[in-house]
Amino acid sequence: MLEGKDILNTAQFSLQELDLIINTAATFEKQVKDGAIIRNMKGQVIALLFFEPSTRTCLSFEAAANRLGARVITVVNPDSSSMAKGESLADTIRTIDGYADVIVMRHPMKGAAQIAADNAKYPFINAGDGTGQHPTQALLDLYTIRKEKGVLGGHTVTFVGDLKNGRTVHSLGYLMALYGNKMIFVSPKDLRMPEEITADLRSRGAEIEETDDLKKALSVSDIIYVTRIQKERFENPVEYEKLKGLYIINRALIDQAKKGITILHPLPRVDEISTDVDDYEGAAYFRQAHNGLYVRMALLALVTGRV
Ligand code: NCD
Repeated sequence: MLEGKDILNTAQFSLQELDLIINTAATFEKQVKDGAIIRNMKGQVIALLFFEPSTRTCLSFEAAANRLGARVITVVNPDSSSMAKGESLADTIRTIDGYADVIVMRHPMKGAAQIAADNAKYPFINAGDGTGQHPTQALLDLYTIRKEKGVLGGHTVTFVGDLKNGRTVHSLGYLMALYGNKMIFVSPKDLRMPEEITADLRSRGAEIEETDDLKKALSVSDIIYVTRIQKERFENPVEYEKLKGLYIINRALIDQAKKGITILHPLPRVDEISTDVDDYEGAAYFRQAHNGLYVRMALLALVTGRV
């Protein structure tokens, strides 16, 4: 179903494809935990191009490739590639496409993923394109919700933080809408979810509420998805200083929230979740990061037809 396909954004998925990704990830999780030697992608080469900082996405893709028995080639610093000499993204991708069976790329420009995919014959995976989308993160968020909550639909999900610049919330919004979840968007006025996304989600039948009242949202939410204010997207550092720290999740706030609330965060966190929340049992953000390994194994194996 996904063989030969690009992974560009979350609006592209059908429920059947999402089922397949989740079930494949679960199979790999079991195999890894059982200590199995997995060699589905033996003989294959995966190109990892990370033109923006990354810890989890880059390393979990590399770990996923290793655990599948594939080899990895990497560019993590654009200054070390010929893009520093003025080569276009299209030409860079056309070249690397001749070396690898699948290309994974993170890039600072929204829309870069589409350009890359258009120039790659082999499957291309978007690992984050500027303020655009981050579909593999949303898929691991989905996998985490299934593990933490048992079901994917019928929840009230609050998104808080930088909804304007945060690509993870742009991506997860589509998946939450598809499964019939209610969404509450909490942000400072200047960092609201882009109107085009809210309108698109509503046209797909999503129920959305926008507010700046975090406490009230928490009292009715089953899941809260916390995000970092995206400092690197601000032209004016004074604006960033004004907005950071406006919404901080601490233990006192969680103790007043709806019972059993699950706390997610794509990480890295700066100060938007206090460390006193970490031992709350519904604090799932590190489990979420670990799940990235299995979901990325599933994606690599599925797009290359090596499941
Ligand atoms: C996110 C990203 O890069 O968009 N990080 C990640 O991949 N887990 C979130 C962020 O940087 O705030």
